[in-house]
Amino acid sequence: MGSGTVGEAVQTFVFEGRLEAKTEVTVEIVKIYTRHPKGKKWFRKYPSLFTTKANEVIDHPDVDIVVEVLGAQQEKDLSVFKGYLIRAMEGGKSVVTSDKAVLAKFSAEIWAAARRHGQAIGFEACVGGGIPIIRSLQQSLSAEEPQSVYGIVNGTCNYILSAMRSSGKSYGEALREAQELGYAETNPEADISGKDSEAKLILLGAVTFGLQLESGMILRKGIEAIHPIDFQYAQSKGSGTIKHLAVARENGSAVQAFVAPVLVPKNHFLATVDGVTNAVCFNGKRSRQGMDNGDEQDWNYGFIGPGAGGGPTAIAVLGDVFSISTTVQGTGGPLITRGDLRVLPKDQIQGDFYVRFVVKNQSGIVGDICRVFGEKSIHIAEIWQLNHTREELKSLAVGYRLRAKTGNLLPFVITLERTKVGQLQEALEIIRKKDFILVEPMWIPIWGNQ
Ligand code: HSE
Repeated sequence: MGSGTVGEAVQTFVFEGRLEAKTEVTVEIVKIYTRHPKGKKWFRKYPSLFTTKANEVIDHPDVDIVVEVLGAQQEKDLSVFKGYLIRAMEGGKSVVTSDKAVLAKFSAEIWAAARRHGQAIGFEACVGGGIPIIRSLQQSLSAEEPQSVYGIVNGTCNYILSAMRSSGKSYGEALREAQELGYAETNPEADISGKDSEAKLILLGAVTFGLQLESGMILRKGIEAIHPIDFQYAQSKGSGTIKHLAVARENGSAVQAFVAPVLVPKNHFLATVDGVTNAVCFNGKRSRQGMDNGDEQDWNYGFIGPGAGGGPTAIAVLGDVFSISTTVQGTGGPLITRGDLRVLPKDQIQGDFYVRFVVKNQSGIVGDICRVFGEKSIHIAEIWQLNHTREELKSLAVGYRLRAKTGNLLPFVITLERTKVGQLQEALEIIRKKDFILVEPMWIPIWGNQ
């Protein structure tokens, strides 16, 4: 089901006999559902395989595995596609999907159906593109006691941030490139706003901790507010860079879960992961015992690979097809939920923070802002102020559509010591109303002290 970037790559690999080349599994495409078959790569050669009716795939008696790679675009697609998956399982078929948004939203219902009907769900392609991360966490590391799972799980965001940092490309230009290369979702808003990473974190939380996370529970920040000057501050003052991360970390009897751009130190493995590449770190308490990982390193398993695009995602899809083909009965899914582990409310998430201001320059501003932080019992770590060129200030003014004279613009950063998101938001609620504030203060966590 689906003949977009991923669907076409799956078709190509099947017609090329990629699985047969290395395994004893033979796969055959029975039907391909797509709304507009004409113009699709394989339509000219195999027109009779194509159908515009979803039930011709779901209800086809010869189909053993339904591969759903439609790519939900709108909210209403989610329940329609969920219906396809459940109907397929009701009809005795296993399913493989790359539609993380569908699984993340309806996970309990979908896995209940899988158990009821004894069918397998393959969803390797939902997280990290071609990286074999789901099976590794769910099966290979099942005896581990998880401490944390976190990483770069959106290729589009990583591509844009890397391009902004390394070649000074504008946000729009980098996004267009990511779309042309087939990395972005059909509606790239899902990538940029962090919704795609949130869906992936829900799935990572399920296979790692047995958590039943839901969308509203997770603190979510996208990359829209990041400006090239943030990379200057991150690099020259923060000795690091900015990466968009999805994080789930156990903290006593609770798990902190968030999706946000994070100031990552330059010596962290994730700081070096650029472009569409995804990377996920896992920290397992059992294999950590007795090992010297160094004080700084807070992970002991690292997974890295191509995180988006037709080819890698199709590889993950076909890995699931292979796995299901060689298993007599599916396991039903990963959702063994742990009642003892709660998710920390968003405002209780703690950490050090980076807050970037753009103000109309006048005296007393820093004092005024720091007093508000003080009143909210927030400790200031440092104040960073760089000398900006006229061009940089001009780009800031254009980027934020500011009318203030370039000579009057002042960007600077205040870093905060361990505080709660709720406290920070309360302080910013007061600060944003000050008449010298020209741009919504931009805050992101600093890695290391969550
Ligand atoms: N749009 C997604 C990304 C595709 O950019 O990572 C892979 O899930």
